[in-house]
Amino acid sequence: MRMNTWWKEAVIYQVYPRSFKDSNGDGIGDLRGIISKLDHIASLGVDIVWINPVYASPDRDNGYDISDYRAVQPGMGTMEDLRLLIRKVHKKGMKIIMDMVINHTSDDHIWFREACSSRDNPFYSYYHWWPVEKGEPPHRCGFFDPAGKGWHYNEATRSWYLHYFSEHQPDLNWENPEVREQLYDILRYWLDMGIDGFRLDAITFISKDTRWPYVTAMILKDRYYGDWGHYYATGPRIHEYLKEMYEKVWRHYDAVTIAEAPGITADEANLFVDPRRKELNMVCHFEGIMAGYIPGEFKKMAPGGYSLKELKKIYTDWDGALSSRGWGTIYLGNHDQPRMISHWGQDDDKYRDLSTKMLFTFLLTMRATPFIYNGDEIGMVNIRFQHIDDYQDIETLQVYQRIKDAGGDVGAFMKDQQLAGRDNGRTPFQWNDRANAGFTRGKPWLKVHPNYCRINVAEQQDDPSSVLNFVRYLVGLRKSIPALVYGKYELLLPDHPHIYAYYRRTDGDCCMVLLNFTSREVVCPPEFSIPVGGEIVVNNYAGVRERERHWCLLPFQGLVCRIKK
Ligand code: NOJ
Ligand code: CA
Repeated sequence: MRMNTWWKEAVIYQVYPRSFKDSNGDGIGDLRGIISKLDHIASLGVDIVWINPVYASPDRDNGYDISDYRAVQPGMGTMEDLRLLIRKVHKKGMKIIMDMVINHTSDDHIWFREACSSRDNPFYSYYHWWPVEKGEPPHRCGFFDPAGKGWHYNEATRSWYLHYFSEHQPDLNWENPEVREQLYDILRYWLDMGIDGFRLDAITFISKDTRWPYVTAMILKDRYYGDWGHYYATGPRIHEYLKEMYEKVWRHYDAVTIAEAPGITADEANLFVDPRRKELNMVCHFEGIMAGYIPGEFKKMAPGGYSLKELKKIYTDWDGALSSRGWGTIYLGNHDQPRMISHWGQDDDKYRDLSTKMLFTFLLTMRATPFIYNGDEIGMVNIRFQHIDDYQDIETLQVYQRIKDAGGDVGAFMKDQQLAGRDNGRTPFQWNDRANAGFTRGKPWLKVHPNYCRINVAEQQDDPSSVLNFVRYLVGLRKSIPALVYGKYELLLPDHPHIYAYYRRTDGDCCMVLLNFTSREVVCPPEFSIPVGGEIVVNNYAGVRERERHWCLLPFQGLVCRIKK
């Protein structure tokens, strides 16, 4: 029997602090900036605000390289500002969760600076090392490494250290109980300050097989879908660590724990979130967001884009896996992804608003806690940089270098990045049509999208037909119809190539959701008729077209029809 809880009923709003609102003119968003825009966030009707890392960091990976877990990054503000933010969020009746990066630290963290000074240093065992006497280490992939390598040589200790991301993000050694205790202490520190939970970065990667087996390309392909993320998520002690963390930390708080869960499949989801196992609350999987990319390639879209049939299967499998135990999340964009509208919809002037509204109808009517990524609520789109110099993201820059060094096709890479690059989702938030979209009075750290004069909050604020007001309406609707949160999900038309349709049902209530994911007009199949007595509660068009009692869905039309018994 599933228990009802606040985090299942919540809608989460993700703030990317660097790009949200700059309060002091240095071109970088900050905590006071967020505070000044809490009215906007609250106006959406959301329940939880998730902020990406704001801890002390050299910002090689925009905060995902923490150098002091108990300090605020000076560019973001002060600890007082953070306390004020927590208080103000709470005062508005919302909760606030932070991002916690405990798979790795920054190479500038004192633990690592000590560790890499000598093998005798007590902090040496805080990280994973491969001593030079043993020859070359077995290959591991470093996602953000220019050479793609996951080991980096350190002369002072005559050994390589492990880094799944960049060389500036050494992986912590969770085998060492002292490391775990330190991390649990940090989690408690923030929970005691009033934080309502965490999004746990790359948490599926924390356990390593320290026998360091050789993982050849063949093994990777046969057993791990050709993807290092899957290998990294199979560490032998992962569940032991998560259970320990639950006992030592989560059990004592009413906090929500959300796993960023690269590398896990729907079958494995309940290992993390079945409440009987006492590990974590929810997982953010990658299968949905990665649909349409060519497997084994770096963020390269398949020429025809994603297949809706495949997408439906993924979300339906995930729903099925968590249908009686555990709980999922759903997101269509975040700071690691291109803009939702550019990726899943169509971002030209003709269909931008319509496809955005249709995608939000999907996002907010599934059985999983939805995440709204800042900027999507006004329909922000990919900036599609032409020049490598415009990019700031370590991932883009390092992979570009890797391809260039290998004599590869950097032109093709630049094209792929226009669709998939992470900086597309990180351009400054568009508040109004004044200089720099009202984001900063200084020079923004990343270019503002030139369409800000047309796409911005001020423009949409009072327009009843705007994307922004549509999102506000949908959030309110989800909160007012329990069937949209807890109701059973039943897929209709599984093989239809253009329509995504499903029921969300509870005993006395049912919502039928009909979404046209394409720019063509589609007639619903004959066996699919308009329910008698149904009330249309969501429609991104003014009306509904019918042909002989069959619905005809207009380009990117999204409908929700409520059928009460
Ligand atoms: C996932 C984060 O969302 C991403 O931004 C970051 O680069 C990696 N984890 C490494 O921490
Ligand atoms: Ca600032």
